[in-house]
Amino acid sequence: MSIVVKPLDKSKRGVCPQEFSFGGTFSDHMFTQDYDPVNGWHNIEITPYHALSLDPSAAVLHYSQEIFEGLKAYRRSDGGVNLFRAEENCKRFNRSAKRMVMPEVDVDLHLDAIKKLVALDHQWVPDQDGASLYIRPTMIATTPKLGLGASANYTHFIITGPAGAYFKGGLSPISVYVADKYRRAVKGGVGEAKTGGNYAASLYASEEVAKQGYSQVLWLDAVEGRFIEEVGAMNICFVYAGKRIVTPELSGSILPGITRDSIIKLAPAIGYEVSEQRLDINTILTDIDSGKITEVFGCGTAAVISPVGTLAFNGTDHVINHNQTGEVAKHLYDELTGIQYGTREDRFGWITSVDL
Ligand SMILES: Cc1ncc(COP(=O)(O)O)c(C=O)c1O
Repeated sequence: MSIVVKPLDKSKRGVCPQEFSFGGTFSDHMFTQDYDPVNGWHNIEITPYHALSLDPSAAVLHYSQEIFEGLKAYRRSDGGVNLFRAEENCKRFNRSAKRMVMPEVDVDLHLDAIKKLVALDHQWVPDQDGASLYIRPTMIATTPKLGLGASANYTHFIITGPAGAYFKGGLSPISVYVADKYRRAVKGGVGEAKTGGNYAASLYASEEVAKQGYSQVLWLDAVEGRFIEEVGAMNICFVYAGKRIVTPELSGSILPGITRDSIIKLAPAIGYEVSEQRLDINTILTDIDSGKITEVFGCGTAAVISPVGTLAFNGTDHVINHNQTGEVAKHLYDELTGIQYGTREDRFGWITSVDL
């Protein structure tokens, strides 16, 4: 199966503007394919970016049968473009699809679609420091029916758009509120799938903590309200004595982040110990207060590494590393972004260069 490309006339194509907001500006083209049980995936094409037409009874609009991914293309200094571990995003997309009773997508075709789309819209890959082209694969359930049950029809699409540097002028620590009342996901639920409902469920608590001046929510497990899961849309790491990195073990309700996995693989090669454990919030706060924990940071595609300067729990602020970015966070940030932008050795074979 091959992708039919119907590009915009060259004279009508745009270029990446100097100013843009994340998620608000989109490149010229998009990928789409449709699924039905008789034909499987078909109508496989790249066309100009356009609105989708959906029946108001389409299953996704009522029961949220939807999945998505998020990855980036990075402009190298020689003008080329890199993808970072894109195959892992395509595999996670299929794991999410399976959990949400949706059809899987051929991984090679999905990757090819991403590469062709990025190549066609390569003038949209920004070249400012720390900027990138964000890539958003999505699948929605399109059967027009209100009866509850898995949809028969689906549309898989990919859109892209420029994303600016997450931190302008260097990494800076965020303040985080530990959710005492609300939960993001429960073991046995869909927390480890990248499905829209998990994000909708997180909005209320995020809005509440924002009013109190905190920028992210740290989620605890939904059974005991004790074990650390994730921070906002990032995984989380704690550093003991500047040497040992600890991250919550995957519990079934944590999204298995590709940045998290990259840290687990990369950190031992650059001098750190790494372990995955069940982490009790009370132990972690005691270890922060005693100075055993020297750094805390979130990790994910958007920011790569996001240092945490304050953790607030039950009315008390626990300050980490004097609210400063730590050495380990900085080291990992430099290594990972160096690999992504092609300035450091790609020792794990994580990079795919896009043929422009
Ligand atoms: C809930 C959640 N956790 C963790 C992550 C980090 O995952 P990744 O490193 O693959 O971006 C994300 C972002 O995709 C997320 O949405």
